[in-house]
Amino acid sequence: TLFPVLVLIVGYLCGSVPFGLLLTRAAGLGDVRSIGSGNIGATNVLRTGNKGLAAATLVLDALKGTLPAAVALRYGPEAGAIAGFGAFIGHLFPVWLGFKGGKGVATYLGVLIGLAWKIALVFAVVWLIMAAIFRYSSLAALAACVIVPVALYLTGQGTFAIAFLVMSALVFWRHRANIERLMAGTEGRIGAKG
Ligand code: G3P
Repeated sequence: TLFPVLVLIVGYLCGSVPFGLLLTRAAGLGDVRSIGSGNIGATNVLRTGNKGLAAATLVLDALKGTLPAAVALRYGPEAGAIAGFGAFIGHLFPVWLGFKGGKGVATYLGVLIGLAWKIALVFAVVWLIMAAIFRYSSLAALAACVIVPVALYLTGQGTFAIAFLVMSALVFWRHRANIERLMAGTEGRIGAKG
């Protein structure tokens, strides 16, 4: 009973590192939470105009999910899912930021890469197609998060399907302001400064 708790805590600590905030601060761009959507993720880092930092935020926020999930997966799918879920929760609720973290998309993708990389490709394809058509990062992520649990279920990966169903629900909940803006037609397009 101690092992899953330890796995969850280690995953959480990995996920709780707010790379978007740290990188923009280190680059002297101020607090990313004071611009655009106020989020600490790659989409909002891109609103500083620095594409390299946005790409680095995406990669690092994904890797902090991939690493614990892939290591824990050696102990079985449950351990992998628990570590990945911990990392995802760490990004959403980092103790270092008073539990006010990000929306979870990059870390969700990172965990998926670590646990089921073929389904991560499905995520990427859905995200890219939706982003190419509509130019909304939030909408592309929401669409991908609908497809992933279904794809995991249909490919017989039941444990992961349940974990990602819960994570998808949390992604939707964290995007409630984005969803309101999408419906009002006021959501910012990818790369548009705000
Ligand atoms: O990953 C978050 C993205 O889906 C939306 O980000 O900054 O537009 O709220 P943002």
